[in-house]
Amino acid sequence: MADAASPSDRNPPILLGVTGGVAAYKACELVRQLQQRGHRVRVILTRGGARFVSPLTFAALTGEPALTRLFASAQSGEAFASSIDHIALAQSAKALVVAPATAHCLAKLAHGLADDLLSTVYLATSAPVILAPSMNVNMWRHPATQANLQALARRPGLAIVAPEAGYLACGMVGEGRLAEPAEIAAAIETALRPPASAWAGRTILITAGPTREPLDPVRYFSNRSSGRMGFALARAAAQQGARVQLIFGPTTAEPPADPAIELVPVTTAEEMAAQAVARFAACDAAILAAAVADYRPAQPATGKIKKSSQPLHLELLPTTDILAELGRRKTHQLLVGFAAETGNPRAAARAKLAAKNADLIVGNDVAQPGVGFDSADNAVVLVSAADETALPRASKDHIAGQILAAIAALPRPVPVPAKSGGLRA
Ligand code: CTP
Repeated sequence: MADAASPSDRNPPILLGVTGGVAAYKACELVRQLQQRGHRVRVILTRGGARFVSPLTFAALTGEPALTRLFASAQSGEAFASSIDHIALAQSAKALVVAPATAHCLAKLAHGLADDLLSTVYLATSAPVILAPSMNVNMWRHPATQANLQALARRPGLAIVAPEAGYLACGMVGEGRLAEPAEIAAAIETALRPPASAWAGRTILITAGPTREPLDPVRYFSNRSSGRMGFALARAAAQQGARVQLIFGPTTAEPPADPAIELVPVTTAEEMAAQAVARFAACDAAILAAAVADYRPAQPATGKIKKSSQPLHLELLPTTDILAELGRRKTHQLLVGFAAETGNPRAAARAKLAAKNADLIVGNDVAQPGVGFDSADNAVVLVSAADETALPRASKDHIAGQILAAIAALPRPVPVPAKSGGLRA
């Protein structure tokens, strides 16, 4: 078992199968190119492959024994005979590549034969598979080979790097020459890339954290919001390929550092409103996770307010309701608000959905211990016109991923001209 890479390995290998064709020598260059791109490579040699390039060559190139056998050989004096757990090996791989893949190998893989280590690993892996065939032109064109190729090409998660036409080692001219290692390496990178996200290339505006409304030069009104939910949303959106404009008040949590996230620090509700309104038109979606102060002192004192034995009367003015303002200005954007409630948030979320012209309201019960304000976890209910989904308690990072998935699944709003709002962009 010593040779098997464990599934929890920190740098899962690309398994490179090398079968018995003269182009096997090009697999050495492919190993190098994959290593230069930061990949760990483990080589599986078939019996034919080992006749063209020795296991020792690949062991020297990869720093790990080349794998040659499905079962240990009792009398084997071979340094590289391996008694590996082929299932663990197959599951540890981030990709299985066969280059060169002979006509015989394609036939075995197409029909599910499992009579050696490579063909067995092919059946047992759930990783992407990349096949780079190489053979004589007549073998390539033979209907049997073409039928096998078509059967393989239809399988999900399997890519074929077609051979090139040119002068072949057998002396003939035609297609069948192994694709260049750089082309195979590029196909492997493509296969490893995560599937395109609904957020790739989209611009999302996110508000986060509390605001501070000054009373005098040393005092302010604020709330317990840490900014963590909005920051988790920004991180998740950036990871899924979005450009994020993150407008955030003075938070206790550290804002995310990511080149895809533009940080826009603000202090007051009016500063947050001005930034949000100015940026909204160019966005595809806005998620307002900030706990914006609803009121601000009408006249912040210019000097520190002195203590007195008399009651202090303050006049508080309502701040701009940013969600309602963006709801009025919405044209093509998806608009998402939060409803922080003490008690059942469903009814309040549904009422806010209509009142603010939003597409989704994330309701959370901030009175529940361990979730919501200033906590690492959250538990929310997602309310849209057509749906209501409760997301049980989980980390804010996990909830952020679920919220983004729910927004991506919303029907896109039909573009309408914006109603004029109270604020100027
Ligand atoms: N919000 C906002 N601007 C404000 C106040 C709130 O954009 N001045 C946004 C929040 O970011 C959140 C949503 O409005 O997305 C709801 O915030 P919440 O405080 O729960 O509700 P309010 O609209 O203030 O309603 P109420 O106080 O009546 O519950």
